Amino acid sequence: MNFKKELATVLFELLGQEISLTELELMIEKPKIASRGDLAFPCFTLAKLKRKSPNLIALELGEKIQSPTFEKIEVVGAYLNIFLNKKEVSEKIVGEIIKKKALFGSQELEGGGNVTIDMSSPNIAKPFSMGHLRSTVIGNALAFIVEKCGYEPIKINHLGDWGTQFGKLITAYKLWGDAEKVKQNPIKELLALYIKFHEVAEMDPSLEDQGRSWFKKLEDGDEEALQLWQWFRDESLKEFSRIYDLMNVQFDSYAGEAFYNDKMDRVVKLLEEKQLLIESDQAQVVELTDEQLPPCLIKKSDGATLYATRDLAAALYRKENYKFAKSLYVVGHEQSLHFKQLIAVLKKMGYAWAEKMVHVPFGMMLKDGKKMSTRKGKVVLLEEVLTESIAMARHNIEEKNPNLANKDGVAKQVGVGAVIFHDLKNNRMNDIEFSLEEMLRFEGETGPYVQYTFARACSILRKGNWQTDVPPAAYLSGWEKEWKVTSLLMEFPNAIKRACENLDPSQVAKYVVDLAQAFNKYYAEVKVLEENVERSARLALVYSVTVVLKEGLRLLGIEAPEEM
Ligand code: ARG
Repeated sequence: MNFKKELATVLFELLGQEISLTELELMIEKPKIASRGDLAFPCFTLAKLKRKSPNLIALELGEKIQSPTFEKIEVVGAYLNIFLNKKEVSEKIVGEIIKKKALFGSQELEGGGNVTIDMSSPNIAKPFSMGHLRSTVIGNALAFIVEKCGYEPIKINHLGDWGTQFGKLITAYKLWGDAEKVKQNPIKELLALYIKFHEVAEMDPSLEDQGRSWFKKLEDGDEEALQLWQWFRDESLKEFSRIYDLMNVQFDSYAGEAFYNDKMDRVVKLLEEKQLLIESDQAQVVELTDEQLPPCLIKKSDGATLYATRDLAAALYRKENYKFAKSLYVVGHEQSLHFKQLIAVLKKMGYAWAEKMVHVPFGMMLKDGKKMSTRKGKVVLLEEVLTESIAMARHNIEEKNPNLANKDGVAKQVGVGAVIFHDLKNNRMNDIEFSLEEMLRFEGETGPYVQYTFARACSILRKGNWQTDVPPAAYLSGWEKEWKVTSLLMEFPNAIKRACENLDPSQVAKYVVDLAQAFNKYYAEVKVLEENVERSARLALVYSVTVVLKEGLRLLGIEAPEEM
């Protein structure tokens, strides 16, 4: 249901082939003020084309437009303000939602294809940071959103499971480690060992040599080194998995940095063949002066490969293995330079597909206005955040709805949903202030508010004995009071499209808040359940709202309990 297109078609027919349908559609605006109509068409471009006054064109077109969909046309200066026929349009939209259900809003953008999404990607033996949380939540939502737009998402957890730090960790473990302690509390224990390594190394620099030599052993495939590495990796992943389970996030691949170990020689060789590798300060680099970027480090003086080398290998692997139409990297904006270099090097290598790689950056999570640190002092561990949020949600339920069935399940859906929504409701580039109280509020722009609105609408349907699959009721005379809600329902596909094009889930988050607010206002004004001829049409509208709220939340990775 695309009324812009419908209007464009009417205009196209009136104008004869002078201007294309797509161009016309792009010119159509949505007035910010409702009294100016539902759509507006400015006539300036046409005026230039026809060498006529725009006001005159507006007047002429205004007289000619005839369609049951457009009930009133106002000509204001060079603008046509178009008012949709509320009854016609509302019944169409509600009918469409009842028919399509969760498929409402699904679309095909730009021919589809695979979209790889590099997301979450925490570092082994280190705590899961707020940045990794943001990457997980944004990446997960983007996966649902691109899927809704006809692409096939492939979620890749590019684990930080390789690098010199593992040499240090092995050294520290060999010196001071305790297997039992690591098993019980892997990340905490490994982190403590890592910190101790740095403390002691300040006084005893020979430790650094030991670290380097263990990493060398690891790279050369030494059995003991490999075993320890594998064990640290397994234990860390077990801990990360608990977080992913809580958040209900799954991955298609856990190919982390180590996965590319045997794929980097090829990259170095390709770079040599293309004569892109040069020696600089005893290291091998690719110069990017033409691109106004610092050189990209490929190989260190001791032959060790680097983060960037692994990302080059990963990019090639993803292109060859997944044949991506687009390749996204959901990583904090501190790494912008790295991704610029990565893409620039691939372009220099002659890979046109590097154009299809997109760094999707995001802002920081702040606490009291300062960057949240997972390492020093006030550590906020993600798992604790989630469990606390769930506990608070559980407490709310106990107060508001003590007889609810499945209180624990609902508390989890609400507690986790609150954390996710708080992250996604802002444009992703904004920094966000971390506050559990704020996240869990039942009013305002929060996850629980939207979930609560959904549950409330479900309860109205239960009370009204609503049966799905009844044909859309046509008994409302005006659809006046409903108009705000129906015109928002109509907007859902556009919100999804914007989210997909801008790779920004907040478009959907803001949309569901708007819809929830409009619905609550409507429900306060209109007695939906009153027995009269209009009741079934009103229930059909309530049902449409539940379908769209639920689907909107799903696209954000949030569940919608029917009772709470
Ligand atoms: N492990 C990295 C970090 O925590 C993020 C990896 C992002 N993905 C990538 N392909 N470089 O900083």
